[in-house]
Amino acid sequence: MTQDLSALAVSRDRQLADLLRSGPVVPVITLERVEDAVPLAQALVAGGLRLLEITLRTPAAADAAAAIIRDVPEAIVGIGTVLTPKDLERAQGLGARYALSPGATPDLLDAASRSELPFIPGIATASELMMALTHGFKTVKFFPAVAAGGIPALKALAGPFPQARFCPTGGIDEKNAKDWLALPNVVAVGGSWICSTADIRAQAWDVITAKAQKAVAAAQA
Ligand code: 3PG
Repeated sequence: MTQDLSALAVSRDRQLADLLRSGPVVPVITLERVEDAVPLAQALVAGGLRLLEITLRTPAAADAAAAIIRDVPEAIVGIGTVLTPKDLERAQGLGARYALSPGATPDLLDAASRSELPFIPGIATASELMMALTHGFKTVKFFPAVAAGGIPALKALAGPFPQARFCPTGGIDEKNAKDWLALPNVVAVGGSWICSTADIRAQAWDVITAKAQKAVAAAQA
């Protein structure tokens, strides 16, 4: 890394550490309708969850994220499912506070290492983690956490990579979240269990607030 890139990495790390203080549970949100965005974010904030991941998986995603950023100032919006440098630019253009990816391609890591936007690349193997680390990203998403070997896999990765910090997602739920959070190198867990597609379709905002409260309680236990 050149000196400029190192300075950017330090600044991104600092911002990310600040953001993660509002964790440690991050709802992974997929919105099919823009009109659900604001009430959903309000329901999550009411339940104690401010750090959000809005996935770029639906045509409504960008407008939904923009609506939350505009109308729910307590929410800290990250854009997830960032797959390309263009997605990363889109996230920044929307005014996201951070971005996440399920993976770590060389193109995306290159673009993210030149960007000021805090970015959490996804890794499932030692080689992917090494790629992320050499590009200046030491906080990574471990995805798909349960399918990629679960807690034993993460413990094994911790051995050779003590500097890495993990945000596992993929298969995390109400029952296992606290076990993941008990690992010393896990800084946050993410998942869709707090706001399922069924609950969002039903506009079951009270149910979602209750699930958020439960997640906060589990994280504190
Ligand atoms: C993600 O993008 O992090 C995952 O899709 C979330 O996985 P989950 O639906 O198993 O929580």
